[in-house]
Amino acid sequence: MNSCSLNHLFICTVLIFLLCLNPTTAARCHPDDEAGLLAFKSGITKDPSGILKTWKKGTDCCSWDGVSCPNGNRVVVLTINIESNDAEIFLSGTISPSLAKLQHLEGLVFINLKNITGPFPSFLFRLPHLKYVYLENTRLSGPLPANIGALNRLDTLTVKGNRFSGSIPSSISNLTRINYLNLGGNLLTGTIPLGIANLKVMSNLNLDGNRLSGTIPDIFKSMTKLRILTLSRNRFSGKLPPSIASLAPVLAFLELGQNNLSGSIPNYLSRFMKLDTLDLSKNRFSGAVPKSLAKLTKIANINLSHNLLTDPFPVLNVKNYILTLDLSYNKFHMETIPEWVTSATILTSLKLAKCGIKMNLDDWKTRQTDLYVSIDLSDNEISGSPVRFLKEEGYLREFQMSGNKLRFDLRKLSFSNTLETLDLSRNLVFGKVPARVARLKTLNLSQNHLCGKLPATKFPESVFAGNDCLCGSPLGHCKG
Ligand SMILES: *[C@@H]1O[C@H](CO)[C@@H](O)[C@H](O)[C@H]1NC(C)=O
Ligand SMILES: *[C@@H]1O[C@H](CO)[C@@H](O)[C@H](O)[C@H]1NC(C)=O
Ligand SMILES: *[C@@H]1O[C@H](CO)[C@@H](O)[C@H](O)[C@H]1NC(C)=O
Ligand SMILES: *[C@@H]1O[C@H](CO)[C@@H](O)[C@H](O)[C@H]1NC(C)=O
Ligand SMILES: *[C@@H]1O[C@H](CO)[C@@H](O)[C@H](O)[C@H]1NC(C)=O
Repeated sequence: MNSCSLNHLFICTVLIFLLCLNPTTAARCHPDDEAGLLAFKSGITKDPSGILKTWKKGTDCCSWDGVSCPNGNRVVVLTINIESNDAEIFLSGTISPSLAKLQHLEGLVFINLKNITGPFPSFLFRLPHLKYVYLENTRLSGPLPANIGALNRLDTLTVKGNRFSGSIPSSISNLTRINYLNLGGNLLTGTIPLGIANLKVMSNLNLDGNRLSGTIPDIFKSMTKLRILTLSRNRFSGKLPPSIASLAPVLAFLELGQNNLSGSIPNYLSRFMKLDTLDLSKNRFSGAVPKSLAKLTKIANINLSHNLLTDPFPVLNVKNYILTLDLSYNKFHMETIPEWVTSATILTSLKLAKCGIKMNLDDWKTRQTDLYVSIDLSDNEISGSPVRFLKEEGYLREFQMSGNKLRFDLRKLSFSNTLETLDLSRNLVFGKVPARVARLKTLNLSQNHLCGKLPATKFPESVFAGNDCLCGSPLGHCKG
């Protein structure tokens, strides 16, 4: 080893050390950025967990938590993302308009600050390099600005989980570079502006959980990159617009649940070869589900519950992909759980309530590979006993069997420690209530033929009501 380079190394190390100690060279960030950030901090009235504790005047603002200056002394990204849902970790206050001093800002990420009030921050319009804005779960309110389209350099704008109200400004059609637009979880009203059709590079559009109404406009023809379309939990009515067909084969998530949509489920869905999630639940879709859906082999989640769909339900080829299936509360008469369902390898949630199933539960052959976490077969005509089934299903958390014809001795029931919810109400269950039900989180045994003294549990009277001769707390004293 050459001693000269070792000497150099030593001198360099000493120099770096001295530079770090010297307070006059420590402030690296631009004074405008420091001033803007400190003004933001002074608009925060409560920070109980010390999220901004590293933000101290005279220290290099580029080293403060959440501040990033990748190319020198200017702040390019500001990120405050509270990942915890702990109610003690939040920021209260308002967003200071002085953040406009961060003239090189490209990304603003405020997620889950929980208690920031005020209107849509107008300083965003004064940041010429802004590319992405996340203002999620803060608590901003008022209208979205009419000139929101002036933020036309943005590729991402998400304001989900605030209290924005009023309609979606028509200038949104000027956000032509937008890739991800999320206005979900607000109080927006009115219809979807037709100009959204201009947003041709959009891959993810989410308007979930607002109060939007009218029909879904026929705007999808040019949106060839759209992979995720989420319009659930609004007040949309009418039929699906024909141009949704042109989202094939790219669209992977079609989520339209909890609206007031009607008409039949279109045949063209069978061209959505990448479809992962189809949620049309809680609408007024009617008619039979097209047989051609058998062409979709990669669907992981299907929710068609609470519609007016009729028989026959097609045989699907999703054996190795399907994770959750909910066909509850339609007009199906399935007689039994279809073989393509019972043979699925990774199904975790199976909901077939009121599907006209008349099988005997003892005929359901379980396998060691079953991964059921949640089962809802309420309001069918299922007979027999769940004793063997519950003994074998080691991952089950929820077992809903209300309103069937199960007839068995409850004393024989055993279940794994994972089970949290057990609803056997409105069946023909007899025998005594075993003490082990006490460890469940939710129980309903009402309207059966149970008898005898209840074990000690935390459950209210209603979950034991309507039986033959149950007694003891929370019901009346046992006689004799
Ligand atoms: C949330 O902010 C409001 C107004 O800024 C304030 O009155 C309230 O105390 C804050 N909530 C919490 C939990 O600090
Ligand atoms: C979109 O931008 C153009 C040019 O900047 C402007 O003339 C037009 O009014 C804007 N459109 C809307 C709907 O605001
Ligand atoms: C749902 O749509 C139907 C027409 O399809 C209409 O009669 C009904 O009032 C709508 N319901 C709600 C809650 O908007
Ligand atoms: C299906 O959707 C309904 C209502 O939209 C919801 O309550 C239910 O949990 C969903 N089912 C599954 C399996 O996620
Ligand atoms: C228990 O089941 C009965 C009958 O299905 C139902 O009416 C009642 O609301 C349920 N109670 C609870 C606490 O879930």
